Amino acid sequence: MIPGDFQVKKPTKSQMWKLGALGVLGLGVLAGTTLVLVFVISAWLGRPVVFGFNEGPDQPIAFPHVRHVTDLGMDCTFCHRNVTQGAAATIPSAGLCLTCHKTVGDGLAEIVKLRDYGESGRPIDWVRVHRVPDHVRFVHEAHIRFFTQARGVEAQAVCSTCHGDVTATDKVRQIRSLKMGDCVDCHRDNGAPTDCTTCHF
Ligand code: HEC
Ligand code: HEC
Ligand code: HEC
Ligand code: HEC
Ligand code: HEC
Repeated sequence: MIPGDFQVKKPTKSQMWKLGALGVLGLGVLAGTTLVLVFVISAWLGRPVVFGFNEGPDQPIAFPHVRHVTDLGMDCTFCHRNVTQGAAATIPSAGLCLTCHKTVGDGLAEIVKLRDYGESGRPIDWVRVHRVPDHVRFVHEAHIRFFTQARGVEAQAVCSTCHGDVTATDKVRQIRSLKMGDCVDCHRDNGAPTDCTTCHF
């Protein structure tokens, strides 16, 4: 065969159009896939775990966990009453705080603020530190029950697996990603369900 003998047939106009359309479609699919992948990966890894988490937010009243938990020996469930019963742990109203602070803390600026909330009946607008998106279902009760009953962990220590030591810093901050990958990993390790409907409405 003589080199150059082989001749490429010039594509027809309609073939060119098809090729072009295919190319555009391919690019579209690639862009779409990349977008979905980025979305899934960022959801999986979530927060910038590598760089750690920020300091917790300022709260309307500078509430010291260490004073109440370490110094006074109060149980987490004394204030976060619903944590062993339902989905949300809940934060108590000023009324519960005032059972002590009606008399304890005279002259302290933060206690003055607390009493103002109590008298006016306004709810204290605590800034949420941990929050899963609306499409995610999280239930405290199931976790506390499992780790205290099936694993024999003390309730207070169960909290710290997800929240760390809340008495260690002045402001509560998030120390664990609690993103999908984090949740699913722990579920897998403990034989808890990992199907989508467990955590998604
Ligand atoms: C005297 C009541 C009281 C006790 C006892 C208490 N807390 Fe709290 N907790 C609060 C209040 C008030 C807030 C809201 C202000 C803040 O974030 O500091 C809060 C906030 C939190 C938050 C952050 C909530 C969010 O917005 O995501 C976590 C987590 C938490 N507490 C865990 C614990 C754990 C764990 C214990 C036991 C070791 C405990 N608490 C004991 C009153 C209490
Ligand atoms: C069982 C009693 C008790 C309960 C309930 C309680 N506290 Fe306290 N709290 C204390 C004691 C005791 C101190 C230490 C007071 C001192 O240092 O003179 C304290 C200290 C504080 C301080 C630090 C004040 C300062 O400037 O040093 C704040 C703020 C505070 N409590 C807020 C709260 C809030 C908010 C709640 C409800 C979520 C609450 N407390 C529930 C007993 C209680
Ligand atoms: C398996 C992980 C995990 C454990 C264990 C856990 N938490 Fe949480 N906690 C979360 C997540 C996730 C959120 C955010 C929930 C949401 O947005 O609905 C949260 C939110 C909270 C909040 C603020 C919102 C609310 O539910 O009222 C408080 C307070 C809290 N946790 C306290 C506790 C205490 C006290 C314990 C131990 C008795 C505990 N948590 C154990 C994961 C955990
Ligand atoms: C530290 C380990 C751990 C982490 C982290 C964890 N889970 Fe779980 N979760 C469990 C275990 C174990 C169970 C099974 C409890 C049982 O068998 O009743 C469970 C059960 C559940 C259930 C079922 C509750 C029910 O109705 O029975 C839901 C929903 C859930 N987890 C959501 C989440 C979400 C969302 C996250 C992340 C924000 C998360 N979990 C993080 C260990 C974990
Ligand atoms: C153990 C709990 C758990 C299970 C099981 C789970 N997810 Fe998730 N998923 C989460 C949490 C928590 C988030 C929220 C992450 C965040 O904070 O952005 C999430 C977020 C998502 C998102 C949204 C991403 C975003 O950026 O908001 C999608 C999509 C998703 N999950 C799909 C799935 C699918 C599909 C399955 C089943 C294969 C599944 N999930 C199983 C906990 C779970």
